[in-house]
Amino acid sequence: MRTLKTQVGIVGAGPAGLLLAHLLRLEGIDAVVLEAKSRQYVEERIRAGVLEQGTIDLLNEAGVGQRMMAQGLPHTGIELLFDRQRHRIDLSELTGGRQIMVYGQHEVVKDLIHARLAASAPLLFGVEDVRVADFGSSAPKLLARHEGEEFEWTCDFIAGCDGFHGVCRDALPDSARTVFERVYPFAWLGILVKAPPASDELIYASHENGFALFSMRSPEITRLYLQCSPDDDLANWPNERIWSELDSRLATDDGWQPNVGEIIQKGITPMRSFVCETMQSGRLFLAGDAAHIVPPTGAKGMNLAVSDIRYLSRALTSYYRTGDETGLLHYSTTCLKRIWRAEHFSWWMTSMLHRFFDHSPFEQRIQRAELNYFSTSRAGRTAIAENYVGLPWTD
Ligand code: APR
Ligand code: PHB
Repeated sequence: MRTLKTQVGIVGAGPAGLLLAHLLRLEGIDAVVLEAKSRQYVEERIRAGVLEQGTIDLLNEAGVGQRMMAQGLPHTGIELLFDRQRHRIDLSELTGGRQIMVYGQHEVVKDLIHARLAASAPLLFGVEDVRVADFGSSAPKLLARHEGEEFEWTCDFIAGCDGFHGVCRDALPDSARTVFERVYPFAWLGILVKAPPASDELIYASHENGFALFSMRSPEITRLYLQCSPDDDLANWPNERIWSELDSRLATDDGWQPNVGEIIQKGITPMRSFVCETMQSGRLFLAGDAAHIVPPTGAKGMNLAVSDIRYLSRALTSYYRTGDETGLLHYSTTCLKRIWRAEHFSWWMTSMLHRFFDHSPFEQRIQRAELNYFSTSRAGRTAIAENYVGLPWTD
């Protein structure tokens, strides 16, 4: 057994764990990051790709925004499509100039891994059997196996950034953990297509066959999603069926259509809303997907992980600079305000745009009336815009 020491032990090298390690390093705070998967796996894992204004600013301030600014696609609006009509939500005009950036989450992950390795800071991939212990004491421990050898890190704090299927949330004592959850009666089938995006902006479509989303990754790659059944199998979705459903659900009276091309990736993502309260116990803190999940309709997943890390890095920095523990004591309460705002927005966008096959004709009409109001009234569009670009941080 090798015994080592660090200030902050971080489990998981997704956006949450990597950003925390980076922000702490800028403050001269040591950390080790332990990741179960390989570097290639995490760098190629395709996830969502919409960064809020606050996320863009934070990555730039942290010095890891160069490639995002060069290769990301800034967007000043999104569109809602229903009854064959497109309705533009002018994000910038409605929010005093704020905007979003389309830049894949795995690209953010690549940038953060590159920064950490370039600084020769500890980041281990392929780590097995990670355990957390003694976080009720002032010397919590992180244990793991790496390349056949057992390791034990004695830390000041542990950050559980290990995603929804990680081990840290389950380590919280039952008395510290209440779970709030909704599982939706549908999933998203996502495809990556080798074809230039046919629109400069994202299009969220509500159709009687189900929801569809037109998005993009780069000037050469289109990203598309279709609402499907939660227990669907990719085998049920040959390419012809995918294109025919996209054709129906994205049809417009103005003749717009996505460009067709080779499908280079296909996957099905389940949809759930999930929050774990609290997000801390003793010296163990959860952040990102380890503590909460949103359905992807509001594009909030990575932005919420970034928000948690902003609070956690500030709280840890205050503690190391001045011994002030206030930020750490209030970490969970502070994060949860923004988390529940995003949970509401993501649930609401999901409910407004998807087809619920058990809805009565009355409920279908009500849903359409809501979509109509929020697309055409300035007040409605402003509510969507300010949530979509992300409400400014006030603390
Ligand atoms: N030991 C070490 N690493 C682990 C363990 C474990 N036991 N369990 C999980 N991990 C790793 C995963 O392999 C993953 O790389 O933790 C990482 C968690 O990263 P993410 O799942 O990307 O979660 P997070 O960093 O919180 O980012 C949230 O990810 O799922 C999307 O939509 C979500 O955009 C949001 C973002
Ligand atoms: C994506 O491009 O993957 C994407 C965009 C917007 C969303 C969800 C996913 O709401």
